[in-house]
Amino acid sequence: MPRNGTPSPGRRAAIVAGLRTPFLKAGGAFRDLSAVDLGALLVNELVARSGIPPADFDAVVFGQVVPSLNMSWIAREVVLRSQLPKSVQAWTVSRACASSFQATADAADQIALGQAEVVVAGGAESLSDVPIFASRKLAQALADASRARGLPAKVRPFAGLRPRDLAPVPPALAEPTTGLTMGQSAEQMAQQNGITRADQDALALASHRRAADGWASGKLAEEVMPVPVPPRYKRIAARDDIVRDDTSLEALARLPPVFDRKYGTITAGNSSPLTDGAAAVILVSEEKARSLGLRPLAFVRSYAFAALDPAEQLLQGPAFAAPVALDRAGLGLADMDLVDMHEAFAAQVLSNLQWLASRKFAERIGRAQPVGEVDPARLNVNGGSIALGHPFAATGARMIWQTAREMGRRKARHALLTACAMGGMGAAMVLEGPGA
Ligand SMILES: CC(C)(COP(=O)(O)OP(=O)(O)OC[C@H]1O[C@@H](n2cnc3c(N)ncnc32)[C@H](O)[C@@H]1OP(=O)(O)O)[C@@H](O)C(=O)NCCC(=O)NCCS
Repeated sequence: MPRNGTPSPGRRAAIVAGLRTPFLKAGGAFRDLSAVDLGALLVNELVARSGIPPADFDAVVFGQVVPSLNMSWIAREVVLRSQLPKSVQAWTVSRACASSFQATADAADQIALGQAEVVVAGGAESLSDVPIFASRKLAQALADASRARGLPAKVRPFAGLRPRDLAPVPPALAEPTTGLTMGQSAEQMAQQNGITRADQDALALASHRRAADGWASGKLAEEVMPVPVPPRYKRIAARDDIVRDDTSLEALARLPPVFDRKYGTITAGNSSPLTDGAAAVILVSEEKARSLGLRPLAFVRSYAFAALDPAEQLLQGPAFAAPVALDRAGLGLADMDLVDMHEAFAAQVLSNLQWLASRKFAERIGRAQPVGEVDPARLNVNGGSIALGHPFAATGARMIWQTAREMGRRKARHALLTACAMGGMGAAMVLEGPGA
């Protein structure tokens, strides 16, 4: 909420609980679970662990980026498959990789406006279960045949099809207006901003080391629910399977570039991988937290979404959104005890950090001074999406809960979180600790 729209007393949105599934490489142990399955399992467990009576929940806001064609309203389905009362209303949001930032912003707004007291905000993604399309010609022939009467008329629409029209069409991770994939766009950004392969690999290594430490110390385990794996349900997935405690700069340096094989710098090691998983947080009004005896770990102080032309530098949205969220919070980058930046690619994180520190960029957005430098010791302190994985719509809620818990441990006053998203969009959110 902008400072000039500060919520009335008691209406600050407190983050009181959160949870996620393990984040697993797509095509792995979660391959038989849809995004709705993952979301419902997660929300059911989160509600149970929160100790908040199910009847007290007002709404669920849930994101999904790659749609399940036979289940297009994930949020309501999650309610209907969980222990929440069927009277809990729900809406689905999609803001690409910033979807659960959008869900959390919506929940915070509803609470600030006095329209809700207790809201679940999160998202789920199954990249094992992406829709496979029929070609346009085959789809038209099927539709024509379904309308036709009699066998000859039903068969006729298929007569003009060629073998290539029968091939299934997978969804593309490409930006529709530029035709470039996320990886190709990030590769262009690395070249335009002079981001070296060595710096990208160093950031990827830090992500793995910190995430591995997070698991070794037990910090991350407390944020992750165990999931019995179908079809036999004998195996339990309890840990992320992308984090590597044994990777090294040498191993990362050996990986070939994938999006520009000749001159590129982006590899499987310094990119976020395709991932399955779900994550959510519970937000309540300050008054409700008090009446339920809940201890808020953090409050949503402000947020902002921004966008630039995707043909320029697709994943630079955070550099535009962060200063707006900081201004709305009445704070500067130097006030942030923690910064959590979604790692779509190491090149994208480093490009955003470069612009935030740049005088030229400051001039472009009408500021007298650069937004500021981010101290690497405060950045993604428990690992980011490169090591933990990136189930698109779940990433924001994973970051928000992971950061809120770290704020609690450090008694931190403020944290800035950001995410880049398709379409040249960026999200930023400032959290404040209870002692701020
Ligand atoms: C980059 C990408 C194409 C790589 O896919 P992939 O080839 O299936 O990746 P893999 O996990 O199989 O890794 C390839 C190799 O690198 C190795 N590798 C990956 N990370 C490593 C690390 N940190 N250290 C050492 N080796 C690593 C793997 O072991 C594998 O080796 P192998 O071929 O000997 O088995 C895929 O993850 C991708 O498309 N990511 C981008 C997703 C995206 O666009 N997201 C949107 C951002 S918002």
